[in-house]
Amino acid sequence: MIKKIGILTGGGDCPGLNAVIRAVVKGAIREFGWSCFGIHDGYDGLIHGKGRMLDSSSVSNILPIGGTILGTSNTANPFEYASMRRGKLVKEDLSGQAMGWVKKWKLDALVAIGGDGTLSIARRMQKLGLKVVGIPKTIDNDLSSTDITFGHDTATQIISDAIDRLDTTAQSHHRAIVVEVMGRYAGWLALHGGLSGGGDVILIPEIPFSMDAVIRAIELRTDIGRRFSIVVVAEGARERGKGLVVRRRIESSPDPIRLGGIGQTVADEIEHRTGISSRIVVLGHLQRGGTPTAFDRILATRFGSHAVHLLRRGRFGRMVALRNGRISDVPIEDAVKKLKLVPRKHSLLESARSIGTSFGDERE
Ligand code: F6P
Repeated sequence: MIKKIGILTGGGDCPGLNAVIRAVVKGAIREFGWSCFGIHDGYDGLIHGKGRMLDSSSVSNILPIGGTILGTSNTANPFEYASMRRGKLVKEDLSGQAMGWVKKWKLDALVAIGGDGTLSIARRMQKLGLKVVGIPKTIDNDLSSTDITFGHDTATQIISDAIDRLDTTAQSHHRAIVVEVMGRYAGWLALHGGLSGGGDVILIPEIPFSMDAVIRAIELRTDIGRRFSIVVVAEGARERGKGLVVRRRIESSPDPIRLGGIGQTVADEIEHRTGISSRIVVLGHLQRGGTPTAFDRILATRFGSHAVHLLRRGRFGRMVALRNGRISDVPIEDAVKKLKLVPRKHSLLESARSIGTSFGDERE
């Protein structure tokens, strides 16, 4: 019998988190009369006992607001909690302490909203006796077993809007503008944002590019009188035969690598080899901020509502998913087993190629 549930948001934030929190709290209270407890700052709050009760008024008016009212952390992991002691990074297992708070707060189950890191931890907490359901979020859209994660549509729209603006200044100055976008090891954001913004060259991690092919695509445009180009580069894109470009390492984070910098390399090469004046714009965390699109609000609401029903039906260890347009659920372990990357034969790649978009390989 569930009487009280905990809710946490973990990992990088994204638009739509508040819409999910709202749906979970409203659904739990209205449909089943459960109490809801919001855990602050992801697993950090579960480890250190930070949280507050949530009622219907706590979630009123948050639907259009970006970020998460609960706060988040993309470093706190109860099984390998990282802290600095005498200048040294120490990792310790504080999962028992986290379970202590679950008992103290009298939580019967947990709704964990996050990406692969947050959901993997949720799965491990379940093994300690915590009943969990997961809700997939990430702008990267790289979680397996779901067609899409909420947040991705909003980030795509932000990229598309940015390209529209960059397009006009690129045209005025006859420039190549390189737009570096997020997405970690997956090219979904670059592909969707680049396609919707009409990017001339789109470089994604799944297709290692050749600089010769990129230069050829830009020169071809010059030959037909198009004296400007927009080159969309995923932060995880890499030149054939070369490694990922890493901006920094955050050792306390479950995935310490932060990508970034490949856009600058591409812009420099374009200018150097074509003589076309080039500029770089790194969209960065702009892609994670602001109000969610209507699509993300609806998806987040459906996800939140389904998660509450999963708990009610005792379907623990499941992650809510969208599959072939229908809301369903899958075992969390299936979703976190491997990243969902852009397949080499994805139909969007074919559509883009057919209108002349270059992916920096030899096929255009
Ligand atoms: O996973 C979401 C994401 O925004 C990635 O696209 C990006 O690589 C990473 O998080 C950035 O992390 P941070 O917020 O720690 O800089």
